[in-house]
Amino acid sequence: MQTHRIALGERSYDILVGSGILSQLGARVKETLSPSRAIVIADRHVADIYAERALTSLRNAELDADLLTFPPGEDSKSLQRLSELYDELLTRRLDRKSCLVALGGGVTGDLAGFAAATYMRGIPFVQVPTSLLAQVDSSSGGKTGINHPLGKNMIGAFHQPRLVLIDIDTLRTLPAEELHSGLAEVVKHGMIRDADYFEQVEKNTSGILALEAEIMERIVLGSCRIKGDVVSDDERESGVRAHLNFGHTFGHAYETLSHYEIRHGEAVAMGMIAACRLAERLGIADASIRERLAPVLTRLGLPTASPAFDAEDVFASMRGDKKTERDTLRVVLVSELGSARIVEAPDPDAVLAAIRETAAS
Ligand SMILES: NC(=O)c1ccc[n+]([C@@H]2O[C@H](COP(=O)([O-])OP(=O)(O)OC[C@H]3O[C@@H](n4cnc5c(N)ncnc54)[C@H](O)[C@@H]3O)[C@@H](O)[C@H]2O)c1
Ligand SMILES: [Zn+2]
Repeated sequence: MQTHRIALGERSYDILVGSGILSQLGARVKETLSPSRAIVIADRHVADIYAERALTSLRNAELDADLLTFPPGEDSKSLQRLSELYDELLTRRLDRKSCLVALGGGVTGDLAGFAAATYMRGIPFVQVPTSLLAQVDSSSGGKTGINHPLGKNMIGAFHQPRLVLIDIDTLRTLPAEELHSGLAEVVKHGMIRDADYFEQVEKNTSGILALEAEIMERIVLGSCRIKGDVVSDDERESGVRAHLNFGHTFGHAYETLSHYEIRHGEAVAMGMIAACRLAERLGIADASIRERLAPVLTRLGLPTASPAFDAEDVFASMRGDKKTERDTLRVVLVSELGSARIVEAPDPDAVLAAIRETAAS
């Protein structure tokens, strides 16, 4: 097992990554926060596979532990489900020394994390991410929240977990398309911050797809370290944290125009290619970056071309993205492998050309 500490002053916490470590959950929760009670929150799908193991581990550590479940899927990031969680927590008389354990993908982490951020003005929570996306992205960083009918992730809070425990063995039951989707964020981390890490991913694509334990432990830890560094530099996303949006401004437009038929990771993969093309058009980068990125994405089961959307529609959707400030389009571009920068108000013709080339390629 490996440990990486996220340095955020008194809100610092450890990320533990290893194979088979779900059985250590109870001991780790006890030593980290010694809660009066622990409530495991999971979607029913993940609960069926892993809740028993999590509860047994917590109870073996002499913790009073219970399970709450909700239906799987993005629709559960809703006020309705949140309200049902509050009802359960209040009925069970959870106090401020209790902790919530989010066992599952990003939906569970966001929903349970927001419940923890707001119940009794905030109680501790622990992340036990079981999807690759949650392991390398959503479980650390402290963003929690739910969706609103008028926009995704519009209601939320920053609330850091007290511990993140990542058992990479849980990836074995994850559907292949979910694995691929998470790999887009892995590639993104290398692109924006760490050329060596990108190279590790590049060299190990088959070991990654085969979920070889030693490789996955290294890859997941490496991604957590990069995300952690970015978040420690900029907890509330005023500057460098925005680099994590590489591929996402184009990507969100692709997701939206496909009515979410395109998965997030697929959209980010296409978006990274489009961002590379834009960087080339603007003279910020040369084609060699994209030429290295594209085959890695392909080997990891990710697309490198978008559907033939109307370029003007993609552009319009990008300008409506919540990450834009004062109606100015901001895009994150990679100028060389491992190094990102923000470009404000890029030339619209260059953006349109990049969109067209990404659809055509
Ligand atoms: N808070 C953040 O910083 C942040 C960052 C990125 C994404 N997100 C959010 O994360 C969510 C997406 O996360 P996700 O892709 O993990 O979705 P998810 O939680 O819906 O999980 C995807 C599917 O995989 C299943 N699953 C999860 N782990 C499994 C396992 N080990 N074995 C078998 N099945 C498993 C789930 O039941 C679900 O059906 C979105 O709501 C997104 O907004 C948040
Ligand atoms: Zn993403």
